[in-house]
Amino acid sequence: MSKPIEPNQPDTTHFGFRTVDMGEKQGLVRGVFDSVADKYDLMNDLMSAGLHRVWKRRMLETLHMRPNAELRLVDVAGGTGDIAFRALARANKLNSTLQAQVIDANAEMVRVGAERALREGINQMGQRAQVDFLTGTAEALPLPDKSVDMVSIAFGIRNVTRRDVALRDMLRVLKPGGRFVCLEFSHMPSRLLQKAYDAYSFNVIPPMGGAVTGDASAYQYLVESIRQFPPAQAFADELKEAGFRRPKYELLSGGIAALYMGWKG
Ligand SMILES: C[S@@+](CC[C@H](N)C(=O)[O-])C[C@H]1O[C@@H](n2cnc3c(N)ncnc32)[C@H](O)[C@@H]1O
Repeated sequence: MSKPIEPNQPDTTHFGFRTVDMGEKQGLVRGVFDSVADKYDLMNDLMSAGLHRVWKRRMLETLHMRPNAELRLVDVAGGTGDIAFRALARANKLNSTLQAQVIDANAEMVRVGAERALREGINQMGQRAQVDFLTGTAEALPLPDKSVDMVSIAFGIRNVTRRDVALRDMLRVLKPGGRFVCLEFSHMPSRLLQKAYDAYSFNVIPPMGGAVTGDASAYQYLVESIRQFPPAQAFADELKEAGFRRPKYELLSGGIAALYMGWKG
């Protein structure tokens, strides 16, 4: 495993362990998800041994969706729709009406998600919960101010070039009292466990990604970008800086992932 490089210029950022110009990162990230979109869901199950489902279930719980309510959710960097579909199922159970929007920078991921919605009969006539898919970036959401009750982002914020700008834009679209939930890979407090997890990540995930999707480099980027993401408390501080009220987090599976929550005052 090579050592991460610290970007030392304000107009540079990380792309995995590489330092790249700010303007370059979005295109590189797009290339990653273009090449894995069709096998993205399968790879999530394989590399996490299904754990991502447990984390996403927990994420849905922390959204605290209300029964018999009319709700709007935007799932930013929502990719193939996993979070939005779970929210729709929950809304149906709660007898709530939900208008969900998946916004993602990558047209291929959005295509796979929209096809999945069609296949699973998600937007059938008469359903109280509906989803639509849009391409757009987290840094400039195509939504009016104070227009949604909930903003979610799962495994997306790590890929965003300007995190501060994206966080402020997600806060902008939330209604006062609205809820923000973010799921992201994190770091394990136990050095021993982190070492074992690093060995698994760097030695198993890229070759597995190569075998399944034909693009090992996309999964090399994944494992490197996880190491470049700030520790949980530092990211919670970024939420506070962006203006979220009472940001907090919980570590999941010993710190492999973390779930962040914040509110709009
Ligand atoms: C790891 S996937 C997560 C997909 C989905 N949220 C999930 O949990 O399965 C990351 C997604 O972030 C999207 N993405 C990356 N940068 C983005 C940005 N700046 N704005 C919006 N989406 C972005 C990618 O296109 C990709 O679909």
